[in-house]
Amino acid sequence: MAIRSSIILGTGSYAPERILTNEELSQKIETSDEWIRSRSGIRERHIAAPGEATSDMAVQAGRRALADAGLTPEDIDLLVVATVTPDMTLPACACIIQHKLGVPTHAACFDLNAACSGFIYGLDTASAMIQSGRYKKALVIGVDKLSAIVDWNDRNTCVLFGDGAGAVVLGGSDQPDTGVLGAKLGAYGDSVNLLCVPAGGSSNPATAEAIAAGDLFMKMKGKEVFKLAVRAMDEAARDILEQHGFHSDQIALVIPHQANLRIIDAVASYLKLPMDRFVVNVDRYGNTSAASVPLALDEARKAGRIKPGDITLLVAFGAGLTYGSALIRW
Ligand code: ACO
Repeated sequence: MAIRSSIILGTGSYAPERILTNEELSQKIETSDEWIRSRSGIRERHIAAPGEATSDMAVQAGRRALADAGLTPEDIDLLVVATVTPDMTLPACACIIQHKLGVPTHAACFDLNAACSGFIYGLDTASAMIQSGRYKKALVIGVDKLSAIVDWNDRNTCVLFGDGAGAVVLGGSDQPDTGVLGAKLGAYGDSVNLLCVPAGGSSNPATAEAIAAGDLFMKMKGKEVFKLAVRAMDEAARDILEQHGFHSDQIALVIPHQANLRIIDAVASYLKLPMDRFVVNVDRYGNTSAASVPLALDEARKAGRIKPGDITLLVAFGAGLTYGSALIRW
């Protein structure tokens, strides 16, 4: 069979049980439910249990995606994990997930760091590998435990983020023009400092001084990220539509990165699409980074919002600053 397309065979997601509400946060730091909701649209977020690692969340989402596809871990020969919060700096979280999930040792397993755009980067990478015919079944997981790198005393960041995982299983099809139709990926590497964890890497190792200075926590220039995010999401969406000769009207559903309701609103108005064409769950999860898009995708599918033949647009931005968009025909 000549493989012409990479198609989605199943989706799955997972969010930890513990829910942290705005009310609860406002008892710990100087903030309010009103401020958080009006600036971001977030009401609550899920937070991993003590001892619950990124790999544990990924395994749950991966199992659900495999069950949805009617496959088992033994069927997987490619495991791509998009994350910025691996269990350890070394080795790849994908290897830990491989072992916990029972993916065979002949499978290629690697991590990919493109922050909140990571899932779309992973989807495009795995799709190309499936389309090459060299891999048969891929599991792509977007997962992050941002609660582990957030400074819980910094109200500028801690109110915005949450933990979770989302996954898809990809397989090959001989049918042209179906499944993952294409993707547009890019990055603004001149904006690294807008959102980063300054220490803990090779340029500024995790010394006692760096830890004391709080440099192992995420630092963000929110306003600048906001502006660039809207521009990058709009451009990424327009570019992929143009590349494939689609008008935004032909898109049945947009699955945007869930960072901020105001960013999603702005993208909707640039694309001249009503908000009911957008999947929004930022109110219940906050920004779950690489998990955000696949989690929203899984929820939308399970809620019956995606029908055969529909065209779905995925679009995201993240630290880097990276951006990405992808089109899927179901
Ligand atoms: N509660 C109350 N007040 C707060 C809080 C809080 N949690 N956080 C900040 N403030 C204060 C600020 O200190 C500031 O006070 P000041 O004017 O006295 O200095 C004031 O609120 C106003 O802040 P603004 O910057 O005007 O707020 P803005 O409307 O820009 O919203 C926000 C801030 C929500 C951070 C917004 O800029 C945003 O969403 N940016 C994008 C962030 C993002 O998407 N990051 C994720 C990137 S993806 C990834 O890879 C992880």
